[in-house]
Amino acid sequence: MNHLLMLEGVKMYFQVRSRFFGSLAVKAVDGVSLEVKRAETLAVVGESGSGKSTLGRVSLRLIRPSAGRVIFDGEDITAANDAELKRFRKRAQGIFQDPFSSIDPFMNIYQILEEPLFIHGLGNSRERRRLIYEALEEVKLTPPQEFAPKYPDRLSGGQRQRVGIARALILRPDYVVADEPVSMIDASSRAEILYLLRELQDRHGMSFLYITHDIATARHFSHRIAVMYLGRIVETAPTKELIEKPRHPYTMALIEAVPSPDPANRFRERRVIPGEPASPTRVPPGCRLHPRCPLFIRGKCDVIEPPLIEVMESHYAACHLYC
Ligand SMILES: Nc1ncnc2c1ncn2[C@@H]1O[C@H](COP(=O)(O)OP(=O)(O)OP(=O)(O)O)[C@@H](O)[C@H]1O
Ligand SMILES: [Mg+2]
Repeated sequence: MNHLLMLEGVKMYFQVRSRFFGSLAVKAVDGVSLEVKRAETLAVVGESGSGKSTLGRVSLRLIRPSAGRVIFDGEDITAANDAELKRFRKRAQGIFQDPFSSIDPFMNIYQILEEPLFIHGLGNSRERRRLIYEALEEVKLTPPQEFAPKYPDRLSGGQRQRVGIARALILRPDYVVADEPVSMIDASSRAEILYLLRELQDRHGMSFLYITHDIATARHFSHRIAVMYLGRIVETAPTKELIEKPRHPYTMALIEAVPSPDPANRFRERRVIPGEPASPTRVPPGCRLHPRCPLFIRGKCDVIEPPLIEVMESHYAACHLYC
């Protein structure tokens, strides 16, 4: 089986209270089907609020989708019980923007890395020490015995994210979600961290879901790209094909907004298409992009939501230009 992770028709709606409208549904993810192949990096790209992180969290089953299925290595884990989820969590890990937002600041690096080993009952204390030192060496925090006793507040942003990566990879997962892993790190260290992730993937062959609003880094660090807009995938293709022959007006705008391919300097968020920013509480009828689309066709784009169709081999776009 070529696919490691499959999402089938996934929806994630959040109910929120609003002063003027009472209870509202935030349609963060609204009908996404996607597969992550073995040993591939699939980048999910889109502007703020398009549902990227929610999609990543559903794929890790940190949240349970409102509809649709999550299938991991052939097993449906949408409604998995605690024991099944624990087994899944050993094989699926996340690397997040701020690696220590959820970690006790009074734990040192050694304890931070030991925790997942404890949770999954791996090794005796000597074996755990070996795994922890190996993990530190892999992320180039050397010599490991010097870093292990340190506390996170003594490290730079880049070093902290290296610990975050070591913690995610110490269990040798098969699937890793990296959600904006370098957006809080100073520009000079970003490319280094992304190259490190790529090196570790080459060595261990895990699959990555790389979430970013920056198509320039997606271009450098992914095999395939899925472009998200307002809870939906609007285009997906192998990376080179998508960058060289984008078919969807939104992807074209994302690419045009990137003047230089240099990954180190391309992290500022931009409004890529003029017009009202989209809101997942007010999804427009028809194509979700139509109020902002330069190629808008009246009577068509504002009426019917275009499906994702194969426009070239392995290249899908959801746009009335191709329906
Ligand atoms: N727990 C929640 N409750 C209510 N709304 C939520 C929740 N989580 C996310 N949302 C909303 O869902 C939408 C999608 O959010 P999400 O964080 O997935 O977007 P994103 O593409 O990751 O954006 P960013 O690039 O800013 O990280 C947003 O409108 C967000 O406010
Ligand atoms: Mg996000």
